[in-house]
Amino acid sequence: MADLPTDGATPGGPGDTASRRQFLTWLSRAFLGLWALGGIGVVTTYMGSSGNSNEGGGRLVRVGALDELRLGEIRLIRHGVTPFFVIRTNETNVLALSAVCTHVRCILNVDREHRTIVCPCHEGRFDLKGNVLSGPPPRPLPTYEVSMRAGEVFVRV
Ligand code: FES
Repeated sequence: MADLPTDGATPGGPGDTASRRQFLTWLSRAFLGLWALGGIGVVTTYMGSSGNSNEGGGRLVRVGALDELRLGEIRLIRHGVTPFFVIRTNETNVLALSAVCTHVRCILNVDREHRTIVCPCHEGRFDLKGNVLSGPPPRPLPTYEVSMRAGEVFVRV
């Protein structure tokens, strides 16, 4: 036995059309509400990511103890897709340079004899501050923020 509508509307009659219209109105408002929430989320994410892109962001990589880096030493840190060099420049400072060539992104090597950074792909050459010395690289090497905590060196990449 079929259930009869309790509001007095007959199936297929004017009451049924009205409840279907109410349901569709409710459904469209629900979609609009969800769409608006999504828009607010996108705007909030955009506002939160604006500004200096690396300030406080990125990943902090522990390089090791400062004492384990000899003065003038250049060490390649193989950190996933963001390899970098750390160079101990004096008693208290360490410089961190990208180890990715600014030409077409080959991984760089160190020429220890000439104390330069060289690219195996097209012979680009950089000094130990990341400046281009020769070859096709269009820009210096990016540097990364270095910090010390309890005698340990950290680089934010
Ligand atoms: S990729 Fe380094 S010089 Fe071309």
